[in-house]
Amino acid sequence: MRILVTGGAGFIGSHLVRRLLSSGQHQVVNFDALRYSGNLTNLNTVSQQPGYAFVYGDICDGALVSSVLRQYRIEGIINCAAETHVDRSILDPESFARTDVVGTGVLLEKGRQDGVKRFLQVSTDEVYGSVESGLSTEEDRVQPRSPYSASKAGGDFLVLSYWTTYHFPVMVTRGSNTYGSNQYPEKFIPLFVTNAIDEQPLPLYGDGQYRRDWLAVEDHCAGIEQVFFHGEPGTVYNIGGGNERENIVVAEEILAYLGKPKSLLRFVSDRPGHDRRYAVDSGRLRQLGWRPIVPFDEGLRSTVQWYREHESWWRPIKSGAFREYYEQVYGRRLQQAG
Ligand code: TYD
Repeated sequence: MRILVTGGAGFIGSHLVRRLLSSGQHQVVNFDALRYSGNLTNLNTVSQQPGYAFVYGDICDGALVSSVLRQYRIEGIINCAAETHVDRSILDPESFARTDVVGTGVLLEKGRQDGVKRFLQVSTDEVYGSVESGLSTEEDRVQPRSPYSASKAGGDFLVLSYWTTYHFPVMVTRGSNTYGSNQYPEKFIPLFVTNAIDEQPLPLYGDGQYRRDWLAVEDHCAGIEQVFFHGEPGTVYNIGGGNERENIVVAEEILAYLGKPKSLLRFVSDRPGHDRRYAVDSGRLRQLGWRPIVPFDEGLRSTVQWYREHESWWRPIKSGAFREYYEQVYGRRLQQAG
């Protein structure tokens, strides 16, 4: 199949591109705007492969999207292009509405006009909002609480409306917190791993007892692939790792793997609107034959090892514009924490 993966230079996108190409059965066009978290070096191992092409572009650019769909005779679209970090959405909500809602709308409409056969929207379990207990199913109410999750929810609704209105074969996946190699170090796990390597403080929001369900990026991509090829159009599929942990437990595990002291932990003032817990029921996807296979402790250990061995990947990131961002989000918090 000829597949357009948007955001293919990002974290989940680049893992997905490599996975799709490894089967030898698909041609993949990676369409990416290479914003701050996009990194083409994530694709060094496949960049010369005959089934791979890269196009620089923004999903909001309808004329370019249309011409790429035609030029490469694209049959399926997987939309991984998104603004994804909650803390950034608090600083700059507009860019989230632009990419995650408007961009998704442009991509959908151009795909529909071009007669694309399948469209998969990569979304997030955060659209369900904070769940104090139990597991969110796909039928649960969507109650997003951050500009990030609200923008993703808006995108999801648009996507699903295309099935109801046009019978355009769309699917939505809602993955839980994903971790692994090549993740931009603003997210919890890579931030804490790289800070710990440098013996810098690990800023835990609030009481550190917020809970997330951790999903290895390999399991997440396997789920996306399963839904893309075998999912029912018009349907949402949750993808959960089944590894629910308190943040402080994950932070301590990272320190233990690196042999660093717990004194690096800092309890800092909380994120506004911080969701206490996410957890999803993946039963629908399991019925398609998928299940997560990476045990969390092993996945976390190998992720820590990857960051240890790939300083040349993350050090340039952390020394650039990231510093300004870090100061904005954490400067005062860390000062107050002492
Ligand atoms: P994050 O990786 O930002 O994912 P999300 O908020 O989308 O779930 O954060 C995961 C959890 O870790 C979340 O409860 C917030 C917390 N966290 C911290 O305590 N400190 C940090 O510096 C970051 C980035 C996150």
